Amino acid sequence: MERIICLAAGYLCGLFQTGYIYGRLHGIDIRKYGSGNSGSTNALRVMGKKAGLFVFLGDFLKTAIPCFLVRLLFKDQPELIYVYMLYTGLGVVLGHNFPFYLGFQGGKGIAATAGIIFSVDWRLTAICLACFILIVAVTRYVSLGSLVVSSILLVWNIVMGLHGAYGLTAGEVWEFTAVTCVITAMAFWRHRANIGRLLKGTENKVGAKKESAP
Ligand code: G3P
Repeated sequence: MERIICLAAGYLCGLFQTGYIYGRLHGIDIRKYGSGNSGSTNALRVMGKKAGLFVFLGDFLKTAIPCFLVRLLFKDQPELIYVYMLYTGLGVVLGHNFPFYLGFQGGKGIAATAGIIFSVDWRLTAICLACFILIVAVTRYVSLGSLVVSSILLVWNIVMGLHGAYGLTAGEVWEFTAVTCVITAMAFWRHRANIGRLLKGTENKVGAKKESAP
């Protein structure tokens, strides 16, 4: 039951579409510009740096805050805290990617996934941040950085699960790993068009404005 509550609460938090709301407040539907994504990369592309940062923070916090609350609420069940945080994070990603009130057309869930990474482990956060910055600085492909970071999360959680880290007992390890697999698979699924463009060498580069809002 707790798992369903975490997933559902996460979904509700994920419905807060920072990019869509920011765009509407500035008179545009961000999903009609650039890549059509409502996330921070497209906000940066279409509305500029301030918008990109604001949208990233909003989408990041809508995962980080509920995950922090999960830590507080379930502190008497330490072996389950990380499993519940992952369910909550997955719920946020689903709400962000598939908001029912916007015809299920949302973002790609990477800022929300960053909130999960931050909630899981500061060492993982440091590794992901360093890799993301390096990849984007060298290639200027945000999507590639996003895919690598999502993959690092999966590898990290598999290794940590195998080592019984985070107080996980044998019974929870499979679940911890399985939910992480779904989060990473979701990132790859939502980036399937980006992956196609990366393979063809036609992916959008950050800083190269393709389409701007009026
Ligand atoms: O976080 C989304 C990013 O990885 C790709 O965004 O708008 O270029 O498809 P976009």
